[in-house]
Amino acid sequence: MALAMRMGRIVSGSVVILMAMELMTGMIISSRSGSSSSAYRFGFGAVDAGPGGGGLSMNYYTLSCPMAEFIVKNTVNAALQADPTLAAGLIRMHFHDCFIEGCDASILLDSTEDNTAEKDSPANLSLRGYDVIDDAKDQLEQQCPGVVSCADILAMAARDAVFFAGGPVYDIPKGRKDGKRSKIEDTINLPSPTFNASQLISMFAHHGLTAQDMVALSGAHTLGVARCSSFKNRVTGSTPDADLDSNFAKTLSKTCSGGDNAEQAFDATRNDFDNLYFNALQRKAGLLSSDQTLFSSPRTSRFVNSYALNQAMFFFDFQQAMRKMGSLDIKFDHSSNAQPLPLELDFYEGDARHHLLRLPATVFSVTTLL
Ligand code: HEM
Repeated sequence: MALAMRMGRIVSGSVVILMAMELMTGMIISSRSGSSSSAYRFGFGAVDAGPGGGGLSMNYYTLSCPMAEFIVKNTVNAALQADPTLAAGLIRMHFHDCFIEGCDASILLDSTEDNTAEKDSPANLSLRGYDVIDDAKDQLEQQCPGVVSCADILAMAARDAVFFAGGPVYDIPKGRKDGKRSKIEDTINLPSPTFNASQLISMFAHHGLTAQDMVALSGAHTLGVARCSSFKNRVTGSTPDADLDSNFAKTLSKTCSGGDNAEQAFDATRNDFDNLYFNALQRKAGLLSSDQTLFSSPRTSRFVNSYALNQAMFFFDFQQAMRKMGSLDIKFDHSSNAQPLPLELDFYEGDARHHLLRLPATVFSVTTLL
């Protein structure tokens, strides 16, 4: 109790309410997500405790940077109100970050004289939304310097973009650390738009994602566009593509008459997160070969049909799969501030911001009663 009273001296009322809200969110996610079979667990304490006891947690920034979620959400909302097409860019950026070296913001690192970074790979040249992440990071650095990782900002921004565009609302665990390696050659591990279902399944399986996760995640193509260079293989072959609707083939040819950079939306509602992408696949109007293969392959077609029929099922599976993808190969900080703190630590001395990172759940509940 003495500890709780000391905590009370440094924790303002509003922060206590925020903590309670975060804790409640953690509970809700925990009860919906069937944690037992996941690689990560949701709850009050550390999630997926790594070798050193570090891990992701829903309430990771509750004390160290209580406004973190709010700042990211506000920044994303403001940016997307000005340009709704950026929702697609933010979601794709998180995916491209997580698939290379894990979710560690390596996608944000710039090339140097001696090193060409991931972002300069042809596969990443059309990524959009860097300014939104920079803006959020700037604000967070003013509010709580050195606390919130860029990898977490990317994950939160993608989550907020999904919701902004009309997709599911979900919470994500935080605590990712930023990486230092960013090499163009690693981007070979991004899926190609000409992959067939088996190739896609095995690439995603390599990251512990199932065929169903892969189909659900491909549903992110409900947002945004691709350039002709990504789909012209579908209309330039000597024989007509049997998996391509003839009218849609004409649309694609017309788009490509504008050159390799001409853009085509994945579905009829490029800024709305819905299940029309899956309906398009059923009509053989998938944009990329890697989209259409999900319907033509018996290994994945049943998921496409389910999501085309049932948007709620797509939303549920998508947010589950996004949390899984967002937890890929996480780097934890096994040094000072990412470890759960022992209860007897003197919380209010020194720089509170850096010491109050991972408070055990029991302390939260005592504190919220103050
Ligand atoms: C399944 C394997 C996947 C392949 C082969 C693939 C490939 C591509 C390609 C080629 C583009 C267009 C790039 C361009 O022409 O500029 C694209 C766009 C996009 N991808 Fe994927 N993708 C895949 C999975 C995913 C996943 C898992 C997500 C997110 C969870 C995602 C999100 C997006 C979004 C939102 C866009 C539109 C971007 C924009 O409008 O700026 N993709 N993807």
